[in-house]
Amino acid sequence: MNKALFTLISILLITFQSFAQFSQQDRDSINQLSNKDHQLMMKKLGINELRPGPSGNPEAPNAANADESKASPYTSLPNPLVFKDGSKVESTQDWERRRAEIKEDFDREIYGRVPENIPDVHWKVIRTKDTLIGEYPVIQKELIGRVDNSAYPEIDVDIELTLTTPATTEHVPVIMEFGWNWPSHVPRPAPEGTPWQEQLLEKGWGYAILIPTSFQADNGAGLREGIIGLVNKGQPRKLDDWGTLRAWAWGASRALDYFETDRDVDEDRVGIEGLSRYGKAAIVTFAYDPRFAIGFIGSSGAGGTKILRREYGEQVENLASSGEYHWFTPNFIKYAGPLTPNDLPVDAHQLIAMAAPRPVFISSGDPEVEGKWIDAKGMFLGSVHATPVYELLGKGGMGTKEYPLEHKALLDGEIAFREHRGGHTVVPNWPYFIEFASKYFTTEED
Ligand code: GCU
Repeated sequence: MNKALFTLISILLITFQSFAQFSQQDRDSINQLSNKDHQLMMKKLGINELRPGPSGNPEAPNAANADESKASPYTSLPNPLVFKDGSKVESTQDWERRRAEIKEDFDREIYGRVPENIPDVHWKVIRTKDTLIGEYPVIQKELIGRVDNSAYPEIDVDIELTLTTPATTEHVPVIMEFGWNWPSHVPRPAPEGTPWQEQLLEKGWGYAILIPTSFQADNGAGLREGIIGLVNKGQPRKLDDWGTLRAWAWGASRALDYFETDRDVDEDRVGIEGLSRYGKAAIVTFAYDPRFAIGFIGSSGAGGTKILRREYGEQVENLASSGEYHWFTPNFIKYAGPLTPNDLPVDAHQLIAMAAPRPVFISSGDPEVEGKWIDAKGMFLGSVHATPVYELLGKGGMGTKEYPLEHKALLDGEIAFREHRGGHTVVPNWPYFIEFASKYFTTEED
């Protein structure tokens, strides 16, 4: 197959997957409603026009830049170790205060604020099964996190989660994946090699799958429903309200609340993993909630770990468009006009830095196979520029500023990075992630 076409297909596959559950008619109506809400947000921001983003199709006349020599060097990357008033961050205590400044910028301008009045979530195990996954005996729990909607009964919100742990041990590490609600009529890709679930069970660890779209839809049309809609009582968002990524991260934190009550899980050894838009959700979860011990962030690209100021692959203009703006707070739209990405008060390296000093594995495919849209080097640079914060806190960050060639894995510091040889997937990186996590998760009893 022609390489450009392959690339395009690999990028579109997940977008297609998340839409495949809807009929054409539903899709049209979702697009229409998303457009309408997007227009409303632009109006509230006083914006008439946005700069259009480049195309993800490498053969289109307006294709996104995929030429390193044209990736304009950004001039204004905010320094995570300098306070807004210009003074330097020199100690762990200073960093706590600086982290709060950075968090405030991400809240207001990029991911949005989590409202204070969120109702409680009541977890219920709806089914428990003793079963085998591969050759491993496990206990599998199906859970629902029911959100108290007594303040606005028109909207029901249930968080769907499954937890699978080894049958004979308690208190195990668990890696939670942001998972796709795979429609039954779309064939699942066949797993290559040992499925990741079995790789974890082989270590004596467990896994969980959280379905983000069970509590917040992946489109602008759904913003008046789900947990965002429930808290807003069906009304449109305020300009600094949370976007879908933060809502998904909120759900992951509620799942961790449940794990704290379940003896099968060691709540101090819980990791979060996701790919693509769910890779973005995974880094947001990991950055904001310090209870997560490790992160496995797959091809998160723009809006995840890639430097947003870098003109290469997907751009802020794409993220701010009606197909993706819902991931962010409405305020973010203004960086696609009248403001520019260089005006952002923070960038992706500071999101990674918010997680410091906890270990994080940044995963990408081979740009020749996965496509340049994801911008593997941009994600590498996000990690490089987060490193000084890890170092201030006494840990090794990325360990190098040289972009690794030949798929060399960087696994020695607290920020691991590996481009595998495949496309838009984390699958080939699971063994590397597990090796990396073992450094932190293996106890003397193991
Ligand atoms: C699109 C989008 C990306 C996103 C990806 C995905 O390609 O532009 O930002 O990560 O979909 O989730 O598959």
